[in-house]
Amino acid sequence: MKLNFLFGIAALSLAIASCDIDAEPLNKDQSINGAVSGHDSHSFSNTDEIRTKHLDLEIDVDFEKKTIYGVARHRMERLKDTDTAIFDINGPEIQKVTLGKKGNEKETDFIIGAPEKYLGQPLSIKIDKNTEYINIYYKTTENAGALDWMDPELTEGKKHPYLYTQGQAILTRTWIPVQGTPANRITYTADVTVPAELMAVMSASNPKERNPEGKYHFEMKQPIPVYLIALAVGNLEYKSLGENCGIYTEPEMIDDAVWEFVDLPKMIHAAENLYGPYQWEQYDVIVLPYSFPFGGMENPRLTFANPTLIAGDRSAVSVLAHELAHSWSGNLVTNASWNDFWLNEGFTVYFENRIMEELYGKEVADMLALIEFQELQSELESLSEEDTHLKLELKKRNPDDGMTSVAYVKGAFFLKTLERDFGRQRFDTFLKKYFKDHAFQTLTTEQFKKYLNDNLISQTNIKFNVDEWLYKPGLPKNCFAISSPRFEKIQKLARDFANGKDIFKKPAKKKGKKQLPALKRDQYVPQEWQAFIRALPKKMDPKRLALIDEKLGFSKWGNAEVATEWYVLAINSNYTEIRPQIEAFISRVGRRKFLLPIYTALHDNPSSRSWGMEVYKKVRNNYHPVSIMTLDDLLDYTS
Ligand code: BES
Ligand code: ZN
Repeated sequence: MKLNFLFGIAALSLAIASCDIDAEPLNKDQSINGAVSGHDSHSFSNTDEIRTKHLDLEIDVDFEKKTIYGVARHRMERLKDTDTAIFDINGPEIQKVTLGKKGNEKETDFIIGAPEKYLGQPLSIKIDKNTEYINIYYKTTENAGALDWMDPELTEGKKHPYLYTQGQAILTRTWIPVQGTPANRITYTADVTVPAELMAVMSASNPKERNPEGKYHFEMKQPIPVYLIALAVGNLEYKSLGENCGIYTEPEMIDDAVWEFVDLPKMIHAAENLYGPYQWEQYDVIVLPYSFPFGGMENPRLTFANPTLIAGDRSAVSVLAHELAHSWSGNLVTNASWNDFWLNEGFTVYFENRIMEELYGKEVADMLALIEFQELQSELESLSEEDTHLKLELKKRNPDDGMTSVAYVKGAFFLKTLERDFGRQRFDTFLKKYFKDHAFQTLTTEQFKKYLNDNLISQTNIKFNVDEWLYKPGLPKNCFAISSPRFEKIQKLARDFANGKDIFKKPAKKKGKKQLPALKRDQYVPQEWQAFIRALPKKMDPKRLALIDEKLGFSKWGNAEVATEWYVLAINSNYTEIRPQIEAFISRVGRRKFLLPIYTALHDNPSSRSWGMEVYKKVRNNYHPVSIMTLDDLLDYTS
């Protein structure tokens, strides 16, 4: 890709640099030192010509100005002759760009191209024949979609401010100028200055204690895609859970978090037994404030987690199994572009379920998989046909559009179906080799297909409809089916209740048997109660819902998964007495998976729409930009 430079003519530069990033056809399977180029319609960068190999980041975090001041020093590897290095930016203000080693730098020209929706702008830098170091001096602006600057009131301790980042899918470019494609892997160091009373942690080697001067040095020695660069700054404490494994969070949450996540060392052990050694030395989890827009994010060495995982009964730990599994699928073997997102998430959901089976048994693992399968089935009804393919086409779209249960659950059930047909033992051997052969590399769906054929399918006489799974809509007929007797039982209970039966009285005493107690909440695990709520009619008499609340206390229960489904049913049924609980929940929790169905229900019901909007206006600023963007869209909100 060649750009016509008109350096120094800033007014013209916008138009000129709005290069068409799809202009040049690139060889599909081109792979250079782990960098696969030509696949990624979500990056302007020219990583097929020159790519970042290593980044030294120097940043100063200013909470008063809500600004990060930084220098991103990129060490480049040149793959082709070029006079331009192109980076992605979306928000940062570029102050100057220099070439050369730190301290021996000379300024160079750059131009910033026209913005494109979702992607931001190309930052094109003029380089010499021998350029190795490119240093970009910048500061973030309020348009940094990755950053959540939190005032003290929104934290648990309410005394100190907090900042955390969310890089996936293409938000790292909103706080660091980078080549923003997952197809390129880099190592990094960071020197970070923060207010002295706060501690900083990253997806890298981390401190266990606060530094009195607020200065931290980080190193990530294994090459990672830039969406995994992450930072959190707050009043943090660390507690170990075992060898190479522990928890960071605010002191107010640390003991509850340690109790909830006590099984983490066992999970790491189970995962290593399945698919080979953990490659990142340390595995820690940081429990962030409630505004974190996801349940978990697999930042290497340091999973970011939402406090809703601290359910009080260890019922949400499958999310940690999921993020841990990403240490293999996603972080070790990475999707080459967001069209191949299922390679990250489908494998991870499959792997997560295997870890859960190892630790808690098949019955529990099957219930978890069924809950997800139900979500897939209902989502398949609302998605456009193309979006139900595993291999997606997200060009010109927000890559977050691919974050549906198709990538996650259809992806996982593809692997479950392969496991069924080829046998667990053979499939496990295949997967272990897959992770080994592609460690620290990126992969396209096409490369996976070839690898699957060469290393599994062609070695047997078994026929398998791989193309149908990868490239056709919906669910193939041979999809693996799960049944759960425990779910069938609770679904019957739901149907009985819907038919007017009193399910709360003590069952009749049977001859010679012990009298069974009346129905209680703790007789079933939260996943069974989720299945119960899902088996009720979509809309019910509010009096009947009040009866459930009286007997089982769903509205007061701290389990966010159950609460969300309960609130949606309550909103659809005009069960308005529990509005205070709903408001308290959506004021506090910023996890998009919960906010989206609740606000959708509020928006879709004419008698709750204006109330929903009122609440949203009040609490919108409590959320991370990722959730705000989705909800503004849903609610047609303009500030
Ligand atoms: N990597 C994802 C989160 C993500 C995906 C963020 C795409 C931005 C873009 C993470 O591993 C994830 O899937 N989290 C899930 C939990 C999981 C158990 C399904 C979540 O947050 O709900
Ligand atoms: Zn995931």
